[in-house]
Formats: sequence, structure tokens, C-alpha cells
Amino acid sequence: MHTEHKIIIGNSQQMPELADSSIHLMVTSPPYPMIQMWDNLFAKADPKIGALWQKLEADGKEEIVGQIYNAMHDYLAKVWRETWRVLVDGGIACINIGDATRSVNGKFKLYPNHARITEICEKIGFTTLPYILWKKPTTKPKYKGKGAFLGSGFLPPNAYVTLDCEFILIFRKGNLRKLPPHDPKRYDSAFTKPQRDEWFSQIWTLKGTRQAASQLERRTAAYPDEIADRLIKMFSIKGETVLDPFLGSGTTIKVALQNERNSVGYEIDDKVLPVISKKIGTSKVNMATEVQIIKR
Ligand SMILES: C[S@@+](CC[C@H](N)C(=O)[O-])C[C@H]1O[C@@H](n2cnc3c(N)ncnc32)[C@H](O)[C@@H]1O
Repeated sequence: MHTEHKIIIGNSQQMPELADSSIHLMVTSPPYPMIQMWDNLFAKADPKIGALWQKLEADGKEEIVGQIYNAMHDYLAKVWRETWRVLVDGGIACINIGDATRSVNGKFKLYPNHARITEICEKIGFTTLPYILWKKPTTKPKYKGKGAFLGSGFLPPNAYVTLDCEFILIFRKGNLRKLPPHDPKRYDSAFTKPQRDEWFSQIWTLKGTRQAASQLERRTAAYPDEIADRLIKMFSIKGETVLDPFLGSGTTIKVALQNERNSVGYEIDDKVLPVISKKIGTSKVNMATEVQIIKR
């Protein structure tokens, strides 16, 4: 089957390249608010966030931390709103997100990103569906937010529960998809019974991606192919179009291509383009697939 793939180097808060109701499925993992590795990206992409960090450094007032957290979610919310516009009626949005724990100004607390995104998507109009917990088997327990569970030994009460799950939030725009009866492409996209039993259960135990060799590759914090592969097969039909508004290393496009879906990915950081090209193997693309790179 001929499929088409677009890598758009640009900010997905606006997706003028995409018509209303033209996308069947969105699969993504945004930068996680309050996770340190994404601080610079948020501050650079939204000067308001950068200014708030500076204000926090100068004033040290705790309420500013809340303002930073809100501003980071406002930044992501623009993308969720634009996703709503481009999804077809009944289209699904899957968002992989982790909560964050962090000490700011000496105060340790949880930032429940999954809850905030759910509230925001509900306000946009999405219907919230049951979510998946992605359990990563490797994370070690923490003590006071730092490293391993050292120091407290086995003594109550000051240790914290480890964040060893991430969320895959699932939302639907509007009503259930309406499909013609006996659609051959839909039947050709069927999953098996073992796949159905495993994929539609709530806990997925999957290892994270191995630490990539180059700093550039690490910067994208890629999710495993298996996550994108399951979601694409669960919520789209061959020949349909999948969107990733936070493309990173290009995992979603690579997997869409392997599964005979069209795809569109947005990435704000043009330095990641060589990583994307390497992952998708743009040089190896054959007659059946067309990959376009668009720089805004
Ligand atoms: C967590 S990474 C995505 C990782 C991806 N799932 C993968 O497997 O490689 C988030 C990506 O979103 C990009 N990004 C952040 N804000 C963006 C925006 N407004 N538009 C497009 N890309 C953005 C970042 O540069 C980063 O590469």
C-alpha cells in the first residue's frame, strides 16, 4: 500500500499544514512539565516560562513554582486544542506522559501531569477513556526525591513511593467512529486474540528505550517502538493518518510507515532532524512510501 509521511520542522501549537478533520489518530509524548531535562525547552519556546524561572530565582516565592507549572501546561494545551481541530469525529488522541517529582526551593512534591492534561482535554471537549499504565521495570525506589532508597533503611515514615509508571492517556473527539460495514481495510487491520487480551488490559510492562549513544539522541527521550506500534494498531486502520505533534526522534512515523498508515510529525528542534532521518531510514524508503521533510 502506498503511504505518505511528512516531517514538519516547526511548532505544533499551530498546524496550518493540516486541514480540519483530516487525522484519524494522534500518538505522542510531549516534554514533561517539571522534569528538569525539559526546563530549557519550555523556557526557550515560551519566554513567559523563562521569565518566571528568573523571578523564582530572584524572589524565591513558592507560588511562582505553581505559576511555572501552569504555564508549562498552557504551552501544551495549545497543541491539544490544535489536535482537536485536526482530528476526525471519533478520532483518538493518545498521550504518553509521566508525573514529576521535584524539590524546588527545598520543597519536594508531586506534579501530577496526567491529571492536569486530563482536566485540560476535558475542557477542550475530549471524552476521557480508560488509560494505560506503562510500568517500567527498571526504576529504583527513591528517598527524599534523590537516587536510590538509601538513608531511610526500612524506617517509617519519611520515604516516598517511587514513580515507576507512566501514563498513556486516551481521549476521543466526539462520537464513536462510523465505518462502512465489512470494510476490507478494517478487517485487514484486525488484531489477534492474544494481542487484544494484552493490549486492552490496563498495565503494560515494557522496558524503556536503551540509553542512546549520542547526546542528541538522548535529548529526544524516545518511547519504545512497541508503544507506538500497539496504539497505532489499536486505534487506526491501514491507510489512515497518524499525527505526532511532538515527534522527537521520529518513532511514531517509523512505526506508522511499518504499519501501512500515513503519518505527519512536528518537531520544533531542527537539530534533531539527522536523528529522525536515521531512525526512519529516509534513504531506504521504497516506491511504496513517500517521505517529505518540510522546514517552515
Ligand atoms: C518527549 S520528546 C518526544 C519523543 C518521541 N516520542 C520519540 O519517540 O522520539 C518531545 C519532543 O517534542 C519537541 N517539542 C516540544 N515542543 C514542541 C512544539 N511546540 N512543536 C513541535 N515539537 C515540540 C521537543 O523538541 C522534543 O523533541
